[in-house]
Amino acid sequence: MRMVEIIRKKRSGAELSSEEIRFVVEGVVSGAIPDYQTSAWLMAVCFAGMSDRETAELTLAMADSGDRVDLSAIRGVKVDKHSTGGVGDKTTLILGPMVAACGVPVAKMSGRGLGHTGGTIDKLEAIPGFRTELDRERFFAQVNEIGVSVIGQSGNIAPADKKLYALRDVTGTVESIPLIASSVMSKKIAAGADAILLDVKFGSGAFMKTPEDARALARAMVAIGREVGRRTVAAITDMDQPLGRAVGNALEVREAIGVLRGEGPDDLRELCLELGGHMLVLGGQAEDAAGARRRLEAALASGAALEKFAALVKAQGGDPAVAERPESLLPQAKLRLPVAAAADGYVHGIDAESVGLAAMRLGAGRAAKDDAIDYAVGVELVRKRGERVRAGDTLAYLHAQEDGATAGEAARLLAAAYRIGGEAPEKRPLIYEIIS
Ligand code: URA
Repeated sequence: MRMVEIIRKKRSGAELSSEEIRFVVEGVVSGAIPDYQTSAWLMAVCFAGMSDRETAELTLAMADSGDRVDLSAIRGVKVDKHSTGGVGDKTTLILGPMVAACGVPVAKMSGRGLGHTGGTIDKLEAIPGFRTELDRERFFAQVNEIGVSVIGQSGNIAPADKKLYALRDVTGTVESIPLIASSVMSKKIAAGADAILLDVKFGSGAFMKTPEDARALARAMVAIGREVGRRTVAAITDMDQPLGRAVGNALEVREAIGVLRGEGPDDLRELCLELGGHMLVLGGQAEDAAGARRRLEAALASGAALEKFAALVKAQGGDPAVAERPESLLPQAKLRLPVAAAADGYVHGIDAESVGLAAMRLGAGRAAKDDAIDYAVGVELVRKRGERVRAGDTLAYLHAQEDGATAGEAARLLAAAYRIGGEAPEKRPLIYEIIS
């Protein structure tokens, strides 16, 4: 087989065979195919697209390019959840304990944050003592004992995706539905879950800017799940403002604990009940969405979900009292600086990417992979979409360690993130559509 022929074939719009797709993926990983040919092939895929069959073959070939995690030592139906990335997205911190309290085992491998989006592992590490590096045996045993464990991604998961993503990033070929869908799903399939729940976000802070694009991506990923025999459901959700009111590691843990205690914020609680409901149905612990919701609400009301969170923290080395006293056990920034509204009106939107960047400037996120982060700092949104403001009102607070040039820059980013209009904006749903 010759790579140049495969590039030509894809360029002409023809379907590649399974052997041709495997040849490309294996050649990328071994280094037999030079980057210039891989890049040309990626560009051809961007223009010509891929059929569902080709996308599924590419996904499996990428999943097979490294370790495949075998979760069979864990009892029950393992349901993995993946979000395409957002700002203030602390749903895993809530969903893990909440669905585990309802009988669905959660064996979750998560990532660290980079750029304006945060990572679940960084958020958990904001809890003093919390360890996210457990060996596989300990990880499996913990899920069998208490129903939930969340650890950092380890091992050699989908190395073909790492190589292809690095090339896509510098060749203008990230924005291709089959390439994004196969990239996400190859990692999920290699991570071993029986069923997959996807939260595909659209809006200013998300990869996909419009609901139509998010729907196309969701459909492609659900189709891959069907082709490869993993039940997959996708929720299309709005990210035209950050989720909840807290952005920044310790602040987000505190907010997640609030939801587990039965408090708000409403958008975060609602999204967790919706996503958690699909996880219960996929995991065989509820017949339908209504039954799943009742069970989840009961787990919140009885304190069972909060207890499960405390058990998770204890099992991984942190102080479980954080579930009761987050304000005294989580790190806190020295200053809480208000950011004021410049005009009267209604909040029409909050550019999530700018809020993420403001938090990053304060030290909550990384610009480069090895940057250190400050768990205490971040942003607290006082006003959200639809709310009325008057000039001078506090829109948000910065949680910062000093009131210097960086805080000034973060404050400017945050103020500019707010879109304020004269009339009240139309209400829009947080959950746009479910694709299954
Ligand atoms: N996230 C991924 O994991 N892969 C992509 O291609 C895009 C977003």
